[in-house]
Amino acid sequence: MRKTVLYLMLATLPTAALAQDDALRFDISQGEERSLTMPDGRVVNYLAWEGIPYVTNVEDPAYQTLNFYAPAGCDEKANMPILLRNNVGGYMAARPAHPSATDATGRALSEGYALCIPGTRGSNSTVTNEADGSTVYTGRAPAGLLDLKAVVRYLRHNDSLMPGDAERIISDGTSAGGAMSALLGATGNHPVYDKLLKAMGAADERDNIFAAVCYCPITDLDHADMAYEWLYSLASDEARQLTDEQKTVSQELAAAYPAYLASLELKTDDGTPLTADNYLDYVKGFLIQSAQRAVNETCTLPDDIGIKMYEPQGGRGGMGGPRGGGPGGMGGPGGQRGKSEFVADIDMPQYLSYVAQVARTKTPPAFDAQGVTADRSTPENQVFGDKQGSAVNFTEYSLRKASGQADASLPDELKERVWMMNPMNFITEETATKAPHWYIRHGARDCDTSFPVSINLTTKLRNNGFDVDFALPWNRPHSGDYNLDDLFRWIGFITK
Ligand code: DHB
Repeated sequence: MRKTVLYLMLATLPTAALAQDDALRFDISQGEERSLTMPDGRVVNYLAWEGIPYVTNVEDPAYQTLNFYAPAGCDEKANMPILLRNNVGGYMAARPAHPSATDATGRALSEGYALCIPGTRGSNSTVTNEADGSTVYTGRAPAGLLDLKAVVRYLRHNDSLMPGDAERIISDGTSAGGAMSALLGATGNHPVYDKLLKAMGAADERDNIFAAVCYCPITDLDHADMAYEWLYSLASDEARQLTDEQKTVSQELAAAYPAYLASLELKTDDGTPLTADNYLDYVKGFLIQSAQRAVNETCTLPDDIGIKMYEPQGGRGGMGGPRGGGPGGMGGPGGQRGKSEFVADIDMPQYLSYVAQVARTKTPPAFDAQGVTADRSTPENQVFGDKQGSAVNFTEYSLRKASGQADASLPDELKERVWMMNPMNFITEETATKAPHWYIRHGARDCDTSFPVSINLTTKLRNNGFDVDFALPWNRPHSGDYNLDDLFRWIGFITK
């Protein structure tokens, strides 16, 4: 265990930033040897340090600790990436967790990377107020994000004492966790969080990261209702089955989306401004790419979901059917495939009706739903709620609908919290240090949020010069940490 000896030596070297009485100092001597058997039977030996508080003013001891792991026998610390995996789901609290052989955590160790799986407060985390016995909700937004930022600061604070390179932190999360990952990637070092982090006793360090992996991020929450209705109002009535009241809400929300889209000033890769007039084609382009990739991988696409294959002139001919029969006699583009194997178009209303039917779209408003059409309180209503436990509306539209007051407006305190929870706000902020590398995925039949949410995040990042690997993987429902070969090929590429 030569590496451990090396760390022990390092750990005894006092540095300016790491005084011996530093409460956030990492103790390398506590590492325990463990092993994990990978799906292919390979055994990965690693060291584990668990239950480490990452702030000095711990409010919620069930969640504000981290687990840290490093491959055993790794003698090369320099440049070793650290996968920072959050387990946030539904904007709820997440406990610090162990590596699993079947997801990105075990895979990271098997690839020789360090791994951190912290706990984070969330909408449902509570402590008892000892003074009066009342319940205090500890994880209202942006608490979960602050926790993750404090973790990054902890890793950087102890960079010289820990395995892994804190300048190569790669954050990974799914759904609400994908949103958290996007926030970590977009908000690095932004001063708006400073006071809150200081009050928590987070290390006084930078909190920018190297890369953000975001699976189906449920984000841009204050505009996600409009985006959802703008897109899914194209689905058939039969697929969505909305009440008349819900239809009205859907139409009102959809009508508000073009102005928001215009305000983003997004452009395609070739510089064409994106507006509500060409945006559906832009979305369709990503879906066509996805379907084409599936065809190339010899998937059979159903006939009735709106995919239109390229038809050779004069009909389908005898050289294979429209869904990838034998090689076409005339040679497709590149001369390798029959022309009939190319996805030419997608009937968007038909495709969206299919998604709405198989995955069941949310009723409008999809996110800020409380008290509007059905009295449904969503994860988002809850995470923006107050410390006493009440969920709240967080958009002006829903607040006005729910309260019946046409001029109601959100309290400034809440407005600021909503702003802090939207990565879209930070991409052009000069005072935020953005992650240079991004991996964003949204399943092609995932309607937990609408495709435009991930597409806009990707486009805004690309328009501002960041590297984004983006896809809408074919036939994928709402899920994360899939296709790990692809993810780790990408991580290998950006860290080589
Ligand atoms: C998650 C899913 C949702 O549909 C949502 O609105 C928020 C979070 C999740 O799976 O984390």
